Amino acid sequence: MKAIKTCIFLICASACLAAVVPDLHRRSQDDTTPKDPMYQLNDDPDFHYELLRILGLAPYEGSDIGEVLVAAKKIKPTDMPSFADAFIELSAHAHDVAKGIDSHKFPISARNALFKTATYYRSADFMLHGNWSDPRINSLWKKHRATFDAALALMPIPGRRVTLPSKDGKFTVPAIFYSSGSSKKRPTIIMCNGYDGAQEELYHVFAQAALQRDINIITYEGPGQPTVRREQNLGFIPNWEDAASPVIDYALTLPQVDPKSIALLGYSLGGYLATRVAAFDHRVAAVFAIDGIYDYGKTLTDPLDPLLKQLFDDGKKDEFDDIFNNHIISNTSIPTSVRWAMQQGLWSFRTHSPFEYYTLAQAYSLVGLTDKVKAPVFVGDAENDIYFPGQAKSLAAHLGNKATLFEFKANDGAGAHCGVGANVYLNQVILDWFDGVLKH
Ligand SMILES: *[C@@H]1O[C@H](CO)[C@@H](O)[C@H](O)[C@H]1NC(C)=O
Ligand SMILES: *[C@@H]1O[C@H](CO)[C@@H](O)[C@H](O)[C@H]1NC(C)=O
Repeated sequence: MKAIKTCIFLICASACLAAVVPDLHRRSQDDTTPKDPMYQLNDDPDFHYELLRILGLAPYEGSDIGEVLVAAKKIKPTDMPSFADAFIELSAHAHDVAKGIDSHKFPISARNALFKTATYYRSADFMLHGNWSDPRINSLWKKHRATFDAALALMPIPGRRVTLPSKDGKFTVPAIFYSSGSSKKRPTIIMCNGYDGAQEELYHVFAQAALQRDINIITYEGPGQPTVRREQNLGFIPNWEDAASPVIDYALTLPQVDPKSIALLGYSLGGYLATRVAAFDHRVAAVFAIDGIYDYGKTLTDPLDPLLKQLFDDGKKDEFDDIFNNHIISNTSIPTSVRWAMQQGLWSFRTHSPFEYYTLAQAYSLVGLTDKVKAPVFVGDAENDIYFPGQAKSLAAHLGNKATLFEFKANDGAGAHCGVGANVYLNQVILDWFDGVLKH
């Protein structure tokens, strides 16, 4: 047994270890994807992406460009701790500045400073999930929550936190309601993040832009997402309607919400989650999958090296786990995106076994469910998506005429997964589409 195991690994190590998992590294350079026309913020494509994501929050009060670029300079390619350290330092500094502002005298200044401080605490935590015992996973999150809530309270109409029971009563759903302030019943978008993001991030990606257009927003989190994972110790569930339908119930109790104009939006892996909910809950007028995901499990297993794929298909859990745990996750010769994605996947699906994570992930599929979706679906597709290439087109094809597929282009600065870095443009496209759907 041991001999066979070593042998498999030796073959794998010599022939293919660098290419065993989603070969994000190679994919970003192969002939089928256009070269990224954007200035790169780090030689490590994963750090470039995450930095762009943080900078992209700047138009909506979520970051300030100069200080993020100062932090960016301290981040060394492949060095995940250097990413965390740079943002630990920036968050502490930004928090000091925020504390120095008299929020009674200068409420807008204080709110601006607190919101971006919350972003930096969230970013400081982002690369730490490889070690579940790291106390900073909770300590940074407490500060993230405290600064974000202090900012919420300083909004013209403060965002309101609520906790809702899940459909099956087994967990609770933290949510935030942002009222547009209109006296009339208004359209409302209910949104969740994906694999790694917090509901708080969504305020700066979509919610502020929607409020500017007199659209109410409710953000929420389900199992596996940052706050539920921490406070309720729950990993992801595929049957997302258990988390989302109670949020729709809640929306229907609000006098500000027009019950005929409720939309669901999912960001990143949320593109699967939101579309799945619309297959089971028909109270929604529209769905946004930013970006579209049809079969999440396949995005993990399809790019596996044939040997690892074989181990997975044959149920060789120990061998599969050994390769990931001992030769990939902490191996800085493997692309950061691969290592990070596995660390985050294990943490958010709440397992220490890569095999189990990949097995659980197979349930996150819309195969056989797209026919049940009744609402029109905006399917975002990023031209240079390195995480889920091809998934948006696949979702749109299966939805048929219910789908509006929109490709965000690299030359418009919007070609990265979820169009990060182009949120002003993203909101223009999707919210104008929503207006058209509601008028129709
Ligand atoms: C994980 O973090 C804990 C607490 O900081 C530390 O004691 C432990 O050595 C870390 N484990 C690894 C494998 O780095
Ligand atoms: C780390 O990855 C490199 C590149 O694939 C590989 O050659 C090396 O053997 C790996 N290290 C370990 C400890 O597995």
